Amino acid sequence: MTPIEEIKQRLSIVDVVGQYVTLKKSGRNYKGLCPFHGEKTPSFMVSEELGIFKCFGCNKAGDIFKFIQEIEGLEFPQALKILADKAGVQLESEFEDKFAKKKKILYEINHLSAEFYHYFLLKHNAGKAGYSYFVDKRHLAISNIQEFKLGFAPNSWDLLFQYLSKKKYSLEDMLDSGAVVKKSSGEGYIDKFRNRVIFPLVETDNKIVGFAARTLGDDQPKYLNTNETLVFHKSQFIYGLDKAKLSLKNGSAVFVEGYMDVISAHQAGFKNFIASSGTSITQGQLKIVSRYTKDLIFCFDTDAAGVTATYRAVELAEKEDMNVKIATLPTKYKDIDELIMNDRKSAEEVLKNSVPVYDYYLSTTLKKHDKNGAIGKKKIVEELTPLLSRIKNKVTLNHYIKLLSEELGIDQEVISDIIFGKTAVSASGEGSVFGEDRLLNTYRKTPEAYTLALLFKAPLDNIETFMYVDGQNTLNEKYFSNDTYKELYRRFSDVLSGEKGDFDIKYFSSSLPIELQKSAEELYLWDLDYVANDDKLLKRELEISFQRLKDLYIKKKRLEISQKIKQAELEKNEKLIHELIKVFNELS
Ligand code: UTP
Ligand code: MN
Repeated sequence: MTPIEEIKQRLSIVDVVGQYVTLKKSGRNYKGLCPFHGEKTPSFMVSEELGIFKCFGCNKAGDIFKFIQEIEGLEFPQALKILADKAGVQLESEFEDKFAKKKKILYEINHLSAEFYHYFLLKHNAGKAGYSYFVDKRHLAISNIQEFKLGFAPNSWDLLFQYLSKKKYSLEDMLDSGAVVKKSSGEGYIDKFRNRVIFPLVETDNKIVGFAARTLGDDQPKYLNTNETLVFHKSQFIYGLDKAKLSLKNGSAVFVEGYMDVISAHQAGFKNFIASSGTSITQGQLKIVSRYTKDLIFCFDTDAAGVTATYRAVELAEKEDMNVKIATLPTKYKDIDELIMNDRKSAEEVLKNSVPVYDYYLSTTLKKHDKNGAIGKKKIVEELTPLLSRIKNKVTLNHYIKLLSEELGIDQEVISDIIFGKTAVSASGEGSVFGEDRLLNTYRKTPEAYTLALLFKAPLDNIETFMYVDGQNTLNEKYFSNDTYKELYRRFSDVLSGEKGDFDIKYFSSSLPIELQKSAEELYLWDLDYVANDDKLLKRELEISFQRLKDLYIKKKRLEISQKIKQAELEKNEKLIHELIKVFNELS
């Protein structure tokens, strides 16, 4: 047994996850509020039997190692160490050494690559285009370029590859660092970044973990990033934090959208700017920032996507007990970089005028609807109350209730009644009857998966009563169009025709070919026990999903036949047409 297997065997995933998430038993699985994204009704499921978790809201899934990595913002070896200690499993140091060695090599390669790119940008003719881009077009000072160690990847296929090879790095290490990639067609290997300006991604311990590379023109993608490596995890990385961290001890962090925003801000003397690296903000990133400061200013795009991103980020930040303010750019500027470069003073104003997030919610919602009309008022209250109900402090909450009531000319009690009504629903953590119905409606949209998820949970000993719904409604594998689900259904039927008793998912899953295992385990995690434990409900849901499967199947068949009929008509094949029409009618 490997140390990993031994740890998994000794530790219960429910205990491990339970240290971070309040889990409630839900049938054979456990569920709770997902710690990785903001949610009010639980969609985070844990299976003790399978040793896995999955959130059906944000799709994060994995085993205990993955969980600890994600929640603590760690790399695999560190998570392994923590869990090994917990389980009392001795790790052979060889195992640890291998990771440590590999990481050291990747850091070396990154460091050398950064030097290489930086040299080309500042010292080499082949880097002129990059130099002119940063200095002339983006107005960066040389000292700033040096501070961020910006660079240029020359317009060649494999200069870096050759350089690293001369330094005796193995192909495997170069590939693992992400500096070199396999050619997409044909044999051979090439540099990942070519003819792009380079932004080294520097961690708070000053190690270079990866790179972002921007095109000089309009090529797509605009930015290329190092993929995940042993040392680069983009969901845990914050650009600029290495430089901002000192100034955060006594001030807010300003979260902006892009690398260039951070760099221009730094040049203009705003040392507290950070950015996420080509992703929406994650819980892990906020956890890291909150070690330095609890005060955040978001300065994002104000288009619809930007606003949604802001709302989401705020909810995550609140989980870390952070105080969030929103800075709003004058609309004529695309981003804070543009504003800083054009008008440093007013950039300072924008930051100074940032408002607490609830004032921002209030003003954006009031602008969206007509606050004087009845319908507008209703919409405003509907949108704002769930947001306001998140405010824990009573004085603060009352402040906003009062503001809203004045703006709308509605009694404060009306608003607070709604808010407290809402808090009661969400605070209990239970899905309401409506919530569950909504869930079932979502499930029904994917009838093949839903059918299997239901069957995996159904009591096997009297499953026939469920399978033969009104006498003729037998399910048949031909109704499945997805190959994975078809095969899973076939194998499940084999179980049915064998011995009855409890359906053992662990046994079932281990008997499957590897490519089916993940799907089977995920289906088993669907939160359906309350259906499975209620015969009437189970029968109803199976009926609905069987019927839907059959309907879809018949629709598909009829389409096929009508196409055949058309063809037969072209060929004037009367006999065939006649036969086809008969089949067609039989299908209805
Ligand atoms: P922007 O398109 O706003 O880029 O994307 P920017 O940083 O302002 O770049 P300039 O000013 O045009 O040079 C904002 C951020 O989104 C990520 C990058 O992190 C970028 O800084 N991004 C954008 C990508 O990762 N890939 C892309 O293709 C585009
Ligand atoms: Mn920009």
